Amino acid sequence: MIVLGIETSCDETAVSICSNGNILSNIVGSQIIHSKFGGVVPEIASREHERLISSLTKEAITTARIEINDIEGIAVTNGPGLAGALLTGVSFAKGLAAGLNINIVSINHLEAHIIANLLDRGDITFPFLCLLVSGGHTQLWLINQIEDYELLGETRDDAAGEAFDKGARILGLGYPGGPEIEKCSEYGNSSLINFPRALIKSKKIEFSFSGLKTSLLYFMDSFEENKELKINDVAASYQKAIIDCLISKISLAVEITGVKTIAIAGGVAKNKQLRYAIDKTLRDCEIILPDLKYCTDNAAMISYLGEIKFNLGRCSEFDFSIIPNFSSDQI
Ligand code: KG4
Ligand code: ZN
Repeated sequence: MIVLGIETSCDETAVSICSNGNILSNIVGSQIIHSKFGGVVPEIASREHERLISSLTKEAITTARIEINDIEGIAVTNGPGLAGALLTGVSFAKGLAAGLNINIVSINHLEAHIIANLLDRGDITFPFLCLLVSGGHTQLWLINQIEDYELLGETRDDAAGEAFDKGARILGLGYPGGPEIEKCSEYGNSSLINFPRALIKSKKIEFSFSGLKTSLLYFMDSFEENKELKINDVAASYQKAIIDCLISKISLAVEITGVKTIAIAGGVAKNKQLRYAIDKTLRDCEIILPDLKYCTDNAAMISYLGEIKFNLGRCSEFDFSIIPNFSSDQI
C-alpha cells in the first residue's frame, strides 16, 4: 500500500511516502525562523506550515517517483501539538484525501515517535521499553505490541528537551537548545559542577527537571569564566545531570519489568552522550537506537505508522478533530 504521511504538530513541516514498510521519501522543512525568537511562535508556525505544505507534498511525491494518483491512503498527525499548526496539516490532509477519494487516518504524534524505532528494524522483538524524550514529553513506556502500550512513568514538570532548551537560553546559546548544549559540552568537563539530579533515588519511575533549570539559573548569576571553569564545563555538567536522571529511570524500568530490550525516541534521543551512556550503562540489554533523522519530528514515522494502521483496518471519519492535549492514556 502507498501512504502519504503529514506532520505539522510543531515547527517542522514534514511529508513522507511509505510503501509496504519502506520509506520512499522523507521531506522535512525546518522552520528556522523561530530561532531568532528563542522558541517556537505558534502563529508563525501555522503560517509557515500553510506556506510550505503544498510544495513539500509535491516534493515528497516526486522524490518517491510516484504519481499523486498512486497514493492509496493519507496519515496525518492530529495531536498532541500546537492547535493552529495541527489544523493546517489536518485540513490539508482532509482536502487531499477528499480530492483523491481515498481513506485518511489520524495519528498520535507520540505513538509515531515510539514506532519510529521499527523503521529499518523490522526484527525488533516485543515487548520493549521506550524512553520518549522530546521538547514536550519525557515518558517511559512499556511497548507490549503495536497498539498495546503501558505508560510506566513521566515527568512531573519540564520535559527533558525543555530542560535543554531553557538551559541553553540561560547559557546564552541558541535555539533549539539540545544540539547547542551538546556542541558546547564537547569541549567541557562534565564532572566539575554537581547539578541536582531530582528523584534519582526514588523507586518510582518519574522525572523532574524544573529544579535543575533553576539551579543553573542561580549558578550563572555568580558565574565568571576563568581558567578553571569555562562555559563548556557548565554545559557539560548540566547535560550530564539530565542524562543521569534519564539513565537511572531506564535502569529502574528494567528492574521493575524484567524487559531487557530498550528503545529511545524523540528529539533528545539524538543526543550522542545519551546514546553512549545507554549503551555503556545497560550492557546486558539489547539497545535500539533509531536513525538520527527519525528522532526529531518527521513524517516518515507518520506514513509508516499510518500504513500499519490501515493494515489493521483503522480509518478515520472525515470529521475527526485535532487533539492538541492528547492525554497519555489516549495513545
Ligand atoms: O521530537 P522533537 O523534534 O519535537 C517534539 O515533539 O517536541 O524534539 C525537539 C526537542 C527540543 O527540545 C530539542 O532541543 C531537543 O529535542 N533536541 C536535542 C537534540 N536535538 C534535539 N536534545 C539534546 N540533544 C540533541 N542533540
Ligand atoms: Zn515530536
